[in-house]
Amino acid sequence: MDEAKLRSLVAKLTVADKARLLTGADFWSLPPMSQIGLRSLVFSDGPNGVRGTVWDERDTSLLLPVASALAATWDRAAARTVGELFGDEARRRGVHVVLAPTVNVHRSPFGGRHFENFSEDPLLIAEVGAEVVAGIQSRGVAATPKHYVANDSETERLSYDAVIDEQTLREVYLKPFERIIAKSSPWALMAAYNSVNGHTMTENSLLVNDILKGEWGWDGVLVSDWLATRSLRAAALGGLDLAMPGPKSPWSGGKLAEAVEQGEVPEEVLDDKVLRVLRLAARVGAFEDPVVEGGPPEQARPVIRSLAAQGFVLLRNEVVDSAPMLPIDPKVAKLAVIGDSAMVPAVQGGGSSHVSPPHVITPLEGLRAALPEADVVYQRGVRHRRLLDVVPRAEIFDPAGEGDGIRVEYLDGAGQVLSSELRGTERLVWLGGLPSGTKSLRLRGNLVAEVGEHVFGVNGTGHFRVEVSGREVLAADVTSVDGIDDPLGDMVEPPEQRFDVVLVESDLDGTGRAALTVEFTPQSLDMLVAVGIGHRTQEWDDASQLAAALAVARESDVAVVVVGTNDEVESEGRDRTSLDLPGAQNELVRRVAAVNPRTVVVVNAASPVVMPWVGEVPAVLWTWFGSQEYGDALADVLLGLVEPGGRLPTTFPAELADVPVPLPAVQPVDGELHYSEGSLIGYRAYADRGVRPAFHFGHGLGYTTWDYVEAVADGDVVRVKLCNTGDRPGREVVQVYAVEPFRLAGFAVVAAEAGAEVSVVVDVEPGGEFVVGRSAGDLRISATGTS
Ligand code: BGC
Repeated sequence: MDEAKLRSLVAKLTVADKARLLTGADFWSLPPMSQIGLRSLVFSDGPNGVRGTVWDERDTSLLLPVASALAATWDRAAARTVGELFGDEARRRGVHVVLAPTVNVHRSPFGGRHFENFSEDPLLIAEVGAEVVAGIQSRGVAATPKHYVANDSETERLSYDAVIDEQTLREVYLKPFERIIAKSSPWALMAAYNSVNGHTMTENSLLVNDILKGEWGWDGVLVSDWLATRSLRAAALGGLDLAMPGPKSPWSGGKLAEAVEQGEVPEEVLDDKVLRVLRLAARVGAFEDPVVEGGPPEQARPVIRSLAAQGFVLLRNEVVDSAPMLPIDPKVAKLAVIGDSAMVPAVQGGGSSHVSPPHVITPLEGLRAALPEADVVYQRGVRHRRLLDVVPRAEIFDPAGEGDGIRVEYLDGAGQVLSSELRGTERLVWLGGLPSGTKSLRLRGNLVAEVGEHVFGVNGTGHFRVEVSGREVLAADVTSVDGIDDPLGDMVEPPEQRFDVVLVESDLDGTGRAALTVEFTPQSLDMLVAVGIGHRTQEWDDASQLAAALAVARESDVAVVVVGTNDEVESEGRDRTSLDLPGAQNELVRRVAAVNPRTVVVVNAASPVVMPWVGEVPAVLWTWFGSQEYGDALADVLLGLVEPGGRLPTTFPAELADVPVPLPAVQPVDGELHYSEGSLIGYRAYADRGVRPAFHFGHGLGYTTWDYVEAVADGDVVRVKLCNTGDRPGREVVQVYAVEPFRLAGFAVVAAEAGAEVSVVVDVEPGGEFVVGRSAGDLRISATGTS
């Protein structure tokens, strides 16, 4: 549809309709405008997949590796593939606008949404982000790079004012957006919650009207982050196009129309916003009949598995008994697999990026499947989550007899059941609120249990009443954890109330099950309701679990210890407060390594952690939050079927004290967050100070070795010749850095057979001297011919 046609459609709408189009009809969609043939535009999160409009474990979506893992591939083709998968998923789920990718900056490793962002380097962010955008949009679905701009940490995220000098803002924080717009023209963009230099981003005329829409000539739709619109006029004049979600916003209920009628907001301003929305609608086919595409997501499984492996970063691989520790010999007779994360891995971070995957292959499952002949023994070691474990679904049954799971009843104000459904045992989340008329919930299930002591936990904010086999065991108000002032607070850091229950013979029915009833009246019914039930049979005893882990490690040929963070630690809505692995995992690693010299540490975390034991173990593989196929991808890499392809997209500190932007620098003071480090973040700061990190930006080993033979700069390219000097095929990420100032200038991926020499052409911005190498700290050769 051409511009003239779009303009004629704008002209057909009344001021009231035009204004109505600019706020959601509900949480995820815009009102349809049948008079111009426009269907309702549907939005969905988010950067690891496409959740759709409900948060429900029965409504599954493909779960891909998190953004940092994708950036670790340094591979434009991989990023394009991810975008295409998102686009296909969106089409399958009737979504027109995907709220991804997240292209803020790894300013500090403490940032809670670090996992959801690509890198500390603006060029790498932009290159990966542009391909994700292009991939999504190649399927006729809009991408929405977010959050414009400087939403790089979470503390007071709704209100902080990022104070940034212009050069830093342009070179570091605006650059990913600018470059993505230039390369892939995203059809939408999301305005952040925070302010920049005194103006909140939904009202920031300088950064939106002047730079984004003026200087860069961008013609897409600027949608607010959810609930980020605070004003009528300032937001309308500041360049915001859509105030989400609905149905209530500062523009809704006729308020924006009235402001236009009264001349407070010029009608041309309104028309420009509507034109942008109609342009987007035309681009995503919302004027045409809906085409629901089935698309069997099963076919994506091997693709996701290989993407995950491609992002795994081999941090260390020392020689043990005359051969590198990894890969593990597939003929290994006895393998110990140790760690909470081997059985309950983190495959995504906390917050709105969550999707409900069709399945998750755990490391333990992946290794067992890959080693059918071996004796694979498992010990959990130490726990690291704050909340109690959820009850395994196979151990709780519907009282109404429909099978395993928990019966959820939606109750009105009088306690009458409005509807009921059978759900899984994970925490239940309703983003956008409960079904209409619902005032409270009742969760019921018959739990397979033994006589004796049990610990239960309920999490959520509101009033709980719990019965076990007809006995009341808890009646309490549970309130939010201090310090969380966030629309997603209940999901991000739910308070948990634990209570002990002694089950006696008469509590169990003839099949050995106890009837559990949890009544929950949420404190707030507005934006989000979340509730969960946890359980364990006795107090967890780390000491005896650790001893059991050491016993299996000692008697195995190889010990694989899977440690990591989780979605409680890495989450939207809160920054991290420590870079340590949670719980006693450092001790677990050290003790296992001390009893078995053939110990491989697999880290299942998406943001840097300090690894004080790193010199004491022969191999460390960094695996991020690794998607629904995580365990299979891990087995592929550990057993050498696939090379670990990743390179760090962010610097890993050796010590807390070395972090260039430490914790206090992400905590606003009097509402202000000063980016006083300027552009000296990540590797730029380490290089500037001459501090050695634990692992450099760009670092990652493979299963082969490389010799850099020659590099020649020629205008806007650097031609690099290199040789695979190992004895197996390999893939290398060739990195070109400008010398002054020290910056990543370009990169390219190349593959070669054992012993083969290859050449690769790397695009760079011309000028100055270049050095070429394997990481910011492993520069092999200077490019000749540089001016
Ligand atoms: C997040 C956005 C997300 C939106 C909708 C906000 O809290 O910051 O990234 O797209 O919620 O879920």
